[in-house]
Amino acid sequence: MRVLAIGDLHLPGPQNKTMDEFGPKWREHVHALEKNWREIVSGNDVVLIPGDITWASSYDEAKAELRWLDGLPGRIKVLSRGNHEYWWNRVERMEADHKTLRFANGFYSIPEVGINILACVGYTLPRMIRGERRAAELENYCRQLQNLWTSVRSHVEALAAVPRARNFAMVHYPPIESDGTPSGLHEPIRLYCADCVFGHLHGEQGRTAWTGRINGTTYHFVAADWIGFKPAVIAENL
Ligand SMILES: [Fe+2]
Ligand SMILES: [Fe+2]
Repeated sequence: MRVLAIGDLHLPGPQNKTMDEFGPKWREHVHALEKNWREIVSGNDVVLIPGDITWASSYDEAKAELRWLDGLPGRIKVLSRGNHEYWWNRVERMEADHKTLRFANGFYSIPEVGINILACVGYTLPRMIRGERRAAELENYCRQLQNLWTSVRSHVEALAAVPRARNFAMVHYPPIESDGTPSGLHEPIRLYCADCVFGHLHGEQGRTAWTGRINGTTYHFVAADWIGFKPAVIAENL
């Protein structure tokens, strides 16, 4: 079994919102994505999608695109939240409506393929937080950090029960600063996860995304535009 990842699909939603402001590579990006997906992903693969999935602003609005995603190749697609997931609904409802889609928030176990997910939106990292809204922004970051620790603490037995290579972290915002300094989010992640995928940065901002390995955890930047709208292989032979 392989695990692949691609974030920030930014499907246009019923308002047909584009990503053109981030450059010409976003033109007709859904066509490119579908073509690449069908070429790369096979029926036994798991695909991680760490946030910013569609511009839809309600679950009803998101339904057509979620159905499209459900119909693409892949045994399981794990969706987690970014900063645009206003359409997110009750997990039980969303999972009942789809065959291959799973919706992860915090700890999420997928026993049929023997992997665990630690999913978190993340936030702007403390060193980057400036201006008069500083206190409120720091609070947002701290809440994310706290939620992640709560997920680990409440599921420590399950996380420890599988090899590190079978625990995957999905964070929407970059959890590592651009110079490679880990944020607090790294600590709960590195305890149990061999791989962490993240996205959120687009266009020129993507240059600041740090990728690499720290304390045995590899960080993969998988914002769709930065990986050419091709799902990237994160792990194989699982
Ligand atoms: Fe995004
Ligand atoms: Fe984002």
